[in-house]
Amino acid sequence: MNVSHETWSSRFVFLMAAVGSAVGLGNIWRFPYLAGENGGGAFVLVYLLCVALIGLPLIVAELVIGRRAKQSAVGSARTVAREAGASGRWVVVGWLGVVAAFLILSYYSVIGGWLLAYLPMTASGAFTGVEGAAVATRFETFLGDPWGMTLAHALFMAATVLIVARGVRAGIEQGVKIMMPALFAILVLLVAYAAVEGEFVRALSFLFTVDFSRIDTEVVINAIGQAFFSLSVGMGAMITYGAYLQRDTDIPSASVTIAVADTAVAILAGLAIFPIVFEVGLDPSGGPGLLFKSLPYAFGHMPLGAAVGALFFLFGLFAALTSSIALLEIVVSWAEEHRGWKRSHAAALIGAVVFVVGLLTVFSFNILPRIAGLGFLKIYGEDPNVFGLLDLLTNNLILPVGGILIALLVGYVMRPEIVREEYGADPLFGAWWALLRYAVPLAIAVVMVFELARPFFA
Ligand code: PHE
Repeated sequence: MNVSHETWSSRFVFLMAAVGSAVGLGNIWRFPYLAGENGGGAFVLVYLLCVALIGLPLIVAELVIGRRAKQSAVGSARTVAREAGASGRWVVVGWLGVVAAFLILSYYSVIGGWLLAYLPMTASGAFTGVEGAAVATRFETFLGDPWGMTLAHALFMAATVLIVARGVRAGIEQGVKIMMPALFAILVLLVAYAAVEGEFVRALSFLFTVDFSRIDTEVVINAIGQAFFSLSVGMGAMITYGAYLQRDTDIPSASVTIAVADTAVAILAGLAIFPIVFEVGLDPSGGPGLLFKSLPYAFGHMPLGAAVGALFFLFGLFAALTSSIALLEIVVSWAEEHRGWKRSHAAALIGAVVFVVGLLTVFSFNILPRIAGLGFLKIYGEDPNVFGLLDLLTNNLILPVGGILIALLVGYVMRPEIVREEYGADPLFGAWWALLRYAVPLAIAVVMVFELARPFFA
């Protein structure tokens, strides 16, 4: 069914929403711990290349598909393929996106809940003067309690549902304009604190000295996965938001803005976190808890730390919400079209199911045993819990495959005149077109094949 969707009220608001979807937990939480686990500067360098050469071209491609077809990820994939006289099977691009968005949201909401739980803790001065080791222990204790985490996850999911139920424009457009610059400002403040009080030079050299011997296919696939996750590409988020775009928006320059803003926030987060990681002697490769073990220490030791900390978690929460609504929107806009559901009903129902699936992630940190049968992943050096498995499956498998398919759909299936028309007059068309047709699919495919084959060569 072809449903006609709303459009953004202005170009600026679209940009804010798209940047809002990109900037989120991926920047302040996932980027730093992945950099820590994957050798620091080696990872950062590969990541930057992935953003510029793979992620950015794909943002453009997704917006092109979305604005052309003006439907959900599923509907748009089908529409542009049909328009080109190609097989309806290309709809799989949309389906992969809906599935990925659903799975990602299930754990995204749990981590959003962590921020929510840390907000009152920090505000109440719970970290004031507390030693680094104790801050870390506190986080472990927090992970050990499934019920507190479930409550926070429920609240985060409920907030996401409420916003999406109203339509993105009514709720989020206003908030994004204020909160995004505010998050940016507070990150700069934290970097300044870390520069003065933490081991800044060591952090700089950790993040920017490249040890080329650390670069292997695992580092590269992790960087590709993170680029997709952080830029919100590969799962149809930009198709969905692009569908609400008006003609007057220049797609290439909007895409550059999104990529640059997203990358700047990630680097700032790294510069805020690592000086403290080294200062308090935390393990940089300590995994998903890195943000929650390092920053509360800083808040506990700086003047007005409780207030600054509370603001950080508030803005971080907001950044996470502007991303989680995009994730839910991918699924809801499909449900509106293909089930003909009312938006509010779709949001509530899908939100409830996502919440239940998210409990698997909550319990994976405490009461759930390791999943039997995943032992084979050890050959890849992975021994994931449910959260780790979902993360691996979405970011390192579904999103890269989605990225290849999107590149092929725009690069080979859609008619070049139509692509050109949506792309606009920007002079870099040729470079983008070449990246999209050759470099993007080839690079992703080669890295995936080598990574899958890695254990058999070692
Ligand atoms: N880009 C978001 C982040 O970095 C996550 C996200 C992915 C949001 C896909 C929407 C769609 O946190």
